[in-house]
Amino acid sequence: MENILITGGTGTLGKAVVRRLTGDGREVRVLSRRSGPSGEAERFVGDLRTGAGIAEAVSGVDTIVHCATTLGRDDVRTTRLLAEAARRGGAKPHLLYISIAGIDVIPLPYYRVKLATEHVVRNSGLPWTVLRATQFHDLVARFFSVQRALPITAALSGVRFQPVDVRVVADRMAALAEAGESGRAPDLGGPEIRTMADLARAYRARPVVSVPLPGRTMRGFRAGGNLVPDNAVDGPTFEDFLAGR
Ligand SMILES: NC(=O)c1ccc[n+]([C@@H]2O[C@H](COP(=O)([O-])OP(=O)(O)OC[C@H]3O[C@@H](n4cnc5c(N)ncnc54)[C@H](OP(=O)(O)O)[C@@H]3O)[C@@H](O)[C@H]2O)c1
Repeated sequence: MENILITGGTGTLGKAVVRRLTGDGREVRVLSRRSGPSGEAERFVGDLRTGAGIAEAVSGVDTIVHCATTLGRDDVRTTRLLAEAARRGGAKPHLLYISIAGIDVIPLPYYRVKLATEHVVRNSGLPWTVLRATQFHDLVARFFSVQRALPITAALSGVRFQPVDVRVVADRMAALAEAGESGRAPDLGGPEIRTMADLARAYRARPVVSVPLPGRTMRGFRAGGNLVPDNAVDGPTFEDFLAGR
């Protein structure tokens, strides 16, 4: 693992992975659509939608930590483009992809995209690893922060989360990058499983209203499809995360 490209290295998880790997003294490249500073890492400007700059970014790398997301259907195409560029480069780097726990049992449209993207990674012709993690603390906090103009906080009735700190996910990604091809790695979840209502109260002391939503996706969440109780790891709780912001 001499030379590592981190796609999405400017994002919530990607930044933590960059910090972790540069802290270990690794040669790290960050792919972004914009130029700018990336700490100790070297910034490569490129766009996974158009392919601009991707050949240069993957050239000579041993590992690609793929954290970029377009937050939609394009992830399948952009990941295929990334893998093809890496194969054309000839060096066959290890492709390490971050996915989400429960994407095969909860039919959320973005989760279906993640499942199809995992398929692209598995069939990329490159050495591959997929890690599925539960929701990040940042995402759970965002559910609540977007409601700041309301007098109450709405929480989905019966839904639980097992939020995890991105630094913990970054540590696992760094270990997997170091380990080389591992296929489907053991899932990773945060230290506590809590109802969304409980997390909402931890986020802000004000009334919480539980909202029941119908549909198969919500049934999947209520059944705990997003949880990995057997794969909980120690690390910052949601309160620790909030206190550290
Ligand atoms: N959030 C969660 O709770 C959670 C849980 C488990 C797994 N995950 C997965 O973890 C990954 C990272 O999530 P995140 O929340 O850290 O994402 P994020 O903060 O939204 O960051 C997205 C990144 O993707 C890059 N990107 C977007 N479009 C691009 C394009 N066309 N070409 C190149 N780069 C592009 C962005 O870079 P620039 O804007 O700099 O170009 C940015 O760095 C995702 O795959 C997500 O599904 C997330």
